[in-house]
This record gives sequence, structure tokens and C-alpha cells, in this order.
Amino acid sequence: MKDSFGRDIYYLRMSVTDRCNLRCVYCMPENCEENMSEKEILSVDEIAQIVSCAAACGITKVRLTGGEPLVRKDILEICRRVSDTPGICELCLTTNGILLPQFIDKLQDAGVTRLNISLDSLDPVTYKKITRTGTLDAALRGIYAALEAGFLAVKINAVLMGGVNDNEIRELLELTRKFNANVRFIEMMPIGETADWAETRFVSVSRVLELAPELKEIGSEGVAQLYMLPNGIGTVGLISPISSHFCPTCNRIRVASDGKLKPCLHSSDEIDLRGLLGKALEDTIKRAIFEKPRKHTLDDGEISHSLKNMNQIGG
Ligand code: GTP
Ligand code: 5AD
Ligand code: SF4
Repeated sequence: MKDSFGRDIYYLRMSVTDRCNLRCVYCMPENCEENMSEKEILSVDEIAQIVSCAAACGITKVRLTGGEPLVRKDILEICRRVSDTPGICELCLTTNGILLPQFIDKLQDAGVTRLNISLDSLDPVTYKKITRTGTLDAALRGIYAALEAGFLAVKINAVLMGGVNDNEIRELLELTRKFNANVRFIEMMPIGETADWAETRFVSVSRVLELAPELKEIGSEGVAQLYMLPNGIGTVGLISPISSHFCPTCNRIRVASDGKLKPCLHSSDEIDLRGLLGKALEDTIKRAIFEKPRKHTLDDGEISHSLKNMNQIGG
């Protein structure tokens, strides 16, 4: 359905857990040990009800996010229930890739068609520094498993961090010569408890074009401007939430794993869907879509007004 600014909202990002097996520096504070209890996070039935009512409001695409969605024990049941929902045509998942090798076939069987995987560095030491607890090897095994499995699309997300991984832009770009994947560079957004850390290390995606002027623009997909290297087989995406925000074409809403609907990533608005069923749930989602804010204000020098950390929203 259309929001009050005429934008067609058809994409739901559903965070199924705030837990994660990594601790990325831009996403979670170091001592983030307080996760929600099993009772606090939405059950499979609650997720299925929300998705079904969202579909009745015109949602056709669902992306499962976290935290890390694959740490949830019933993730395959969630995937099955969402992909079986009438009206949902596309089921996607964003993951850090670590658990992918053991899940890949089962995810396909459960109806997942597209995967976005985080990979911020190709250097084992830097990868560990960024994720605090992960190993590059494990992440690469996940990415290879996804590339071999034949999903409709595999996207690799690299968040740009000045002084941390901006010396690896060329190496990450070169992956698109070897793999039919979409390697995307993302401007880091200051949000939640890691906002200060992020703000001081911001790098604009224009840096990628400065370093690789041979990139040819080929269009756009979702929030990314798409490019290709000469002789590349994959594509390069630039995601610029700060330097050139994409709010005018926003097509999405989010639901966090505590059942709060966020009409905009960076707004403090949260609408509690918990306890609502049927028409009441559908009407609440419709109202939230209609009242979606026009834009975030990060580019006006404001900080994110989000009440949640990134691991509680899923990006
Ligand atoms: P597809 O278009 O389906 O591939 O999904 P996506 O690119 O939206 O999903 P993904 O989870 O890979 O997110 C990529 C990056 O875009 C992450 O850094 C997200 O935080 C960011 N992002 C996604 N949606 C929004 C949005 O509505 N606003 C802003 N500012 N950033 C977003
Ligand atoms: N800014 C930009 N992207 C972020 N992500 C997590 N935190 C941030 C942030 N502060 C990315 C992750 C993942 C996607 C869901 O969001 O790297 O790829
Ligand atoms: Fe986990 Fe993703 Fe956050 Fe990294 S960015 S800590 S992988 S939820």
C-alpha cells in the first residue's frame, strides 16, 4: 500500500532475534550481554500472524534479520511459515554467514531465495578486530556455500570504516571478477550505543569511485547504486544512507524481535504489535505504514533517534 507521501511500501524487514554469535564494533557495544529472554522475543506463531496481516496490507517481500537469524533454533520453521504465507512472493535473509554451511540446503528447502552476507574484511586480523569473536575462514566458508547453492542472488555487505577496512576497498571490489555476487559498500550509520564510534570513522561511498574510476554505473537495485568492473562477472553496489539518503524511494517497514514496528530505521517511533490479532493487527500495520516519516535526519547532522541498537533492528 502507499504511505502518505505516495511511496509504495511492500517490503518487511523482520528481526527474529537480538542475539548474535558475533559482536561487530559498529553494531553492538563490547559488553552487550543483555539479550532478550525467549519469552520476550516473538514466537513463531506471532511472527506468522504479523507476516500474514502485513501481506494483507500489501507486503510481498520479507527479509529475516537479527542479530543473527541463524542462531534462533526455530529459524527453519519461521522460514517455512513465512514463505507459505499467501501474498509473500519473496523471502530473503541477512546473515553474517558463520552458520551458513550447516543451514544452506535447509534454508533453500524452507523457501529462502536470496541471501545478504556481511563481510567487512578479507584480512583475518582485521576481520577478528571488527567482529570481535568471528574468524574470516568461517565467514568465507559460509559465502562459498551460498555461492555454490544457486540462490537467486548473493549479496556481500561491507560496511566502510575509516582506518579499519578502507584500505581493502580494491581487494573487496576484485571479488566481483571471481564471483557472480553483488559486493556492496555501505556507509556506516551512527546509531544506538555505538553511534560515537561510527561517527568518527565515517567514510563516504564516493571513496570507492575515487579509487576505482573504471567502475561503470549500470543502474540501481533497492538501496544500492549498481556498478561493474570491466570484465567483472559480479556487480558492485554503493549504499549511501548518509551522503545521499534514499528515503524518497523507501519501500520498507521493520518489526523488531520484541514485536515493535519501526516505520523508519532512525525514528524513535515504535508501535507495539504484541497482543494484536486479525483486523486490529492489520489496521495497526496499515496506520503505521500510512504515517511513515518522510525521511531520517542523519544528513542534517542529527544523530539517529532510534531507541534500539542495530542488533535489535537488523539494519
Ligand atoms: P535487498 O535490497 O533486498 O538486497 O535488501 P537490503 O539491501 O535492504 O538489505 P541488507 O540487510 O543487506 O541491508 C543493507 C544495508 O542497508 C544495511 O546497512 C542496512 O542497515 C541498510 N538499510 C536497509 N534498509 C535501510 C533503510 O530503510 N534506511 C537506511 N538508512 N538504511 C537501510
Ligand atoms: N551502519 C551501516 N550498516 C550496518 N550494519 C550493521 N550496523 C550498521 C551500521 N551502523 C549492516 C550489517 C549487515 C546489515 C544488516 O547491516 O553489516 O550487513
Ligand atoms: Fe551480529 Fe550483524 Fe551485528 Fe555483526 S552486524 S554483531 S553480525 S547482528
